[in-house]
Amino acid sequence: MKKNREKEIKTLLGRMTLAEKLGQLNQLGGSIYGRVDERGFADMIARGEVGSFLSSVGAAKLNRLQRVAVEKSRLGIPLLFAADVIHGIRTIFPTPLAESCSFDPECARATAEAAADEASALGIRWTFAPMVDVARDCRWGRIIEGAGEDPYLGGLFAAARVRGFQGEGESVDDRHVAACVKHFAAYGAAESGRDYNTVQLSDYNLYNTYLPPYYEGVRAGALGVMTAFNDLNGVPCSANPFLTRTILREGWGFRGAVISDWQSISETVAHRYCTDARDSAAEGLNAGISIDMAAEVYIRYGEELVRSGAVDISVVDAAVADVLRLKYAVGLMDNPYTDESREREGMTRAAYQTALRSAERSIVLLKNDGLLPLKAGARVLLVGALADDRAEMHGAWAARDTAEKTVSIVEGLRACFEVTYRRGYDLDGFCPDFNQALREAPSYDAVLACVGESLFESGEASSKTDVALRPVHREAVTRLFERNPRVAALLVNGRPLDLTGITEKTASILECWQLGTAAGEAVANVVSGKKDPEGRLTTTFPRATGQCPVYYGRFATGRPYNEKDEYTSRYLGVADRGLFNFGYGLSYTAFRYQNVRLACDNGRASDTVSVRLTVVNTGAREGTDTVQVYYAPEFSKPIRPELQLGAFRKVTLKPGESAELEIEMPVERMGVYESPAFTLCVAPGRYEIAVGAASDDIAARLSYTVRE
Ligand code: GLC
Repeated sequence: MKKNREKEIKTLLGRMTLAEKLGQLNQLGGSIYGRVDERGFADMIARGEVGSFLSSVGAAKLNRLQRVAVEKSRLGIPLLFAADVIHGIRTIFPTPLAESCSFDPECARATAEAAADEASALGIRWTFAPMVDVARDCRWGRIIEGAGEDPYLGGLFAAARVRGFQGEGESVDDRHVAACVKHFAAYGAAESGRDYNTVQLSDYNLYNTYLPPYYEGVRAGALGVMTAFNDLNGVPCSANPFLTRTILREGWGFRGAVISDWQSISETVAHRYCTDARDSAAEGLNAGISIDMAAEVYIRYGEELVRSGAVDISVVDAAVADVLRLKYAVGLMDNPYTDESREREGMTRAAYQTALRSAERSIVLLKNDGLLPLKAGARVLLVGALADDRAEMHGAWAARDTAEKTVSIVEGLRACFEVTYRRGYDLDGFCPDFNQALREAPSYDAVLACVGESLFESGEASSKTDVALRPVHREAVTRLFERNPRVAALLVNGRPLDLTGITEKTASILECWQLGTAAGEAVANVVSGKKDPEGRLTTTFPRATGQCPVYYGRFATGRPYNEKDEYTSRYLGVADRGLFNFGYGLSYTAFRYQNVRLACDNGRASDTVSVRLTVVNTGAREGTDTVQVYYAPEFSKPIRPELQLGAFRKVTLKPGESAELEIEMPVERMGVYESPAFTLCVAPGRYEIAVGAASDDIAARLSYTVRE
């Protein structure tokens, strides 16, 4: 099949004029929220000057545009329709960061597949997802779009989401969409957490912290990769052949389409890297970027660049072949149109159940002095505008035109409890009924205070200089707590926040994130105990913004933190580490790890570390724990993080039940990526294997020796 396809691509290329070739590399459209008016593009499409379109949705509308391309352009090459289906487009799933707290890549695969089903019914054949940027600075609003701070976990979620969007085969059927791993590369390392800012990284950090999730997404078969807005060590990622040729194509063997981010090719002029738009087009093409998203510099300067020799025609042909290969892979060349009857399926019950399952598993219990779960029939006072706002449950990068179908938190809780709702306060201040809420508070079994952020405070171009909970929310929780100490904070937020202002003023804190269409039901299922909270943090919650970036995989330094020694690595007046750290999350029950041991305490790089232990549910309720296995070389040159996640296992146990677990980790996972080809090299020597319930809650430390 592949051989024939390459032959067909070669034949088609041979029939194309240079202008038509450049047309295939030109992507137009608008923002997913901006609802593009496509009528203005019909003439360009008929002239073969547009190869793909972004952010237009709707089977009938896209079929109309497609008919122009297929019937009016000289060669009738179909358009490829793309959109940012990051976590749903009709049924909205939890934000990717929230979902990563499930520590359940299969959950993410399922939501991606459900999103692909709905997107393809709308005519979309390519999603600009998964975003796989490792992020360790919660000042950066786009931390919401990825899978947190850990490269290994990020890689698992990257691969799972690619498989979910594309399906498992080589070709993408009509209920799946091509994926696009983004933003290549290291966009999450933007200096100071300021979006679009420069990224300056050592080779070690580039290869071992930031590149692994892109690599895993490509290895999972992603058909697209998107270049990032930022520069990497002084070279913009949208003009960076070291990234898109040396690493991606030559090192990793990627044969898909590379697309720029929105006008990121022409922005290399603003970077002061390219002298003008013509130069930016040459740099983009010569860097192996197949598609120019929305800058229109390929279509404008391509012919002159080829005629002048600044860009060889073979470079253009290779880019066109990438695009045609993608169009073949998603079936467009055989069937360019979408079955319009599918759109009428709307949001299915199955998709909702998938959303609910993911949402329940994304919730993280951060504190619980026994208030939760609430007993059936409990009388509840629920306060906060976010609790009664369906659209806010969608989070960033999700359309909100289906919000009327979203279950708000108040609606979800009302299905389980006798709830009195008072708006009390919104994002900007107190509401008239807050004093009434204060007066009423003592008479309730529990007060649920919904606090956090608006969806407009995270996502793109949403960096913050202060990630503390907003003062009105801190004050509201404090004053409610003074009236009734049985206060549980329900957090609705996109990024990790500094919660130090409420930890002493609550009995419980439940991280509910922005959970999408099933938000209210998922929150109610956890608050009522119908579902045990099983989420574990995949990104550190700081004690103060000044700690950012803060993450568990830090370096020991020559003066590791010692609270008794001022001349050690710390901040004045702030305790060590985050307030809540990677891997942390509580259950309504308790677990004990016993007899933690290694099946064998030494081996070669080709062997497997096998951790064995007994996990006991010592509490009175069924619960799910995530046993985590970390590693670190005892010594290394150069130095490496003091702890890195290498494996984990979720286990659900009834009260009193125990389970014998064997958790395996390939020895090579403890290695270091050392070259563009991305080979893992494991240094011989002694490694610490740390087993625990969180990065800062280690139950046992074992020693494993890697032999030559
Ligand atoms: C945006 C984002 C990118 C998105 C693209 C198309 O600026 O950076 O993630 O896919 O433009 O909307």
